[in-house]
Amino acid sequence: MMLKTFLIVNIVFLSIFVQQVIAVDYCPPGQYGTSPTCSNCAANQTSISGQNQDPNSCSPCPANQSSLAGTDCENCPSNYTSSPGQKCVACPANQQSISGSGCTNCASGYISTSGGSCALIYSRILSLSLGLICIKFLLL
Ligand SMILES: *[C@@H]1O[C@H](CO)[C@@H](O)[C@H](O)[C@H]1NC(C)=O
Ligand SMILES: *[C@@H]1O[C@H](CO)[C@@H](O)[C@H](O)[C@H]1NC(C)=O
Ligand SMILES: *[C@@H]1O[C@H](CO)[C@@H](O)[C@H](O)[C@H]1NC(C)=O
Repeated sequence: MMLKTFLIVNIVFLSIFVQQVIAVDYCPPGQYGTSPTCSNCAANQTSISGQNQDPNSCSPCPANQSSLAGTDCENCPSNYTSSPGQKCVACPANQQSISGSGCTNCASGYISTSGGSCALIYSRILSLSLGLICIKFLLL
């Protein structure tokens, strides 16, 4: 009875130890190899930890994301976008984006510079103000 308990406890400890050794073996996302000897995937590429022993396990970041060499992919900043495996670039003029999404056109009456956010066209504000002044005079 004592021996049986002793063996069970030992097997449990051994399996925890083996699991930890195996878990430590993997390189983090954005790298490949067998830990502690990890190498960097190229910039704008990443890898899945646990499936990244081989150099060919690096794959391009998805659209709207990019990475520095050896790191996991991250969303492009807002008003920036990317094609798969490419760096983030500013949205064209008259478009904007939420971080990690594609660029979309500004709403009608709004404009933006490349990489900036959409803003109400100044002439609209001017004509709106003039309109309000006219209404004010008509009412007086
Ligand atoms: C990948 O990203 C880096 C910056 O992290 C950039 O300098 C480089 O040009 C990018 N490579 C490609 C192929 O887009
Ligand atoms: C990423 O950007 C593309 C356009 O470059 C867009 O069609 C796509 O919906 C975007 N993906 C996500 C997850 O927002
Ligand atoms: C980028 O676009 C967002 C809306 O998606 C806006 O709130 C933000 O101010 C813009 N950032 C810059 C630097 O223009």
